[in-house]
Amino acid sequence: MESQNRIMNSMIITIDGPAGSGKSTLAKSIADYLHYIHVDSGAIYRGYTYAVIQKIGYKENHQLFGEAFKFLSIPPEEFSLRVEFSKQKQTIFLDDQNITPFLRSRELTERIRYIADHFLYRKAVNKILKEISKLHSIVIDGRDMGTEVFPEAQFKFYIDASIEERAKRRFLEIYPQNPKITLEEIKKEIAKRDEEDKTRKIGALKIPKDSIIIDTSFLSRNMVLNLILSILNFKF
Ligand code: DC
Repeated sequence: MESQNRIMNSMIITIDGPAGSGKSTLAKSIADYLHYIHVDSGAIYRGYTYAVIQKIGYKENHQLFGEAFKFLSIPPEEFSLRVEFSKQKQTIFLDDQNITPFLRSRELTERIRYIADHFLYRKAVNKILKEISKLHSIVIDGRDMGTEVFPEAQFKFYIDASIEERAKRRFLEIYPQNPKITLEEIKKEIAKRDEEDKTRKIGALKIPKDSIIIDTSFLSRNMVLNLILSILNFKF
């Protein structure tokens, strides 16, 4: 049985939610507080996307990239992708090169869906996640952590926020590096990603039925963190 393979007392806390809901920052803060490992599952999909881009290039646009990826049917085993943790911080290596700093570009983000929609890549990522969970207590964020990957998790949270609020947060984050970007553009991108995340055939964003749902639209980061820590304290 899954839970019997896990080390004694190892815990799994899942945090699912849409793009820009702040789940990753939150997961990191909770992990820091509990001295658990923070696992960012999206970053592993980003790592595989980076690997595919190294192999086939960006192509002219993401549709052509998607077509080339499908045509070449490159299996994930072709890449030597490794996830390591040092001081609870996740680092992704491709062929022993730390690629973590290169995973958040807009061009890469546009192309992730082809990789994240591929069942072999989902299987490969999930295998990595399961291995990590056997060795560490984890706080893990993603789209399908509490539903598909760790339905047995002890605690499940679903973090949401309105599109307006998520766009505003992302705008404030991106604007200093890209002053040409508009709030409206970001809102459109987020709405598109929401639609993609919710309607995909596998790995779709779903609310785990036994999760605690928190809408953070009107809450500060600290308020959400304190709320979750108090829930965990109450339940531990
Ligand atoms: O959380 P993020 O933005 O870094 O995730 C990047 C992409 O990876 C996101 O658009 C959807 C995909 N993803 C997924 O399919 N399943 C997950 N568990 C996490 C991310």
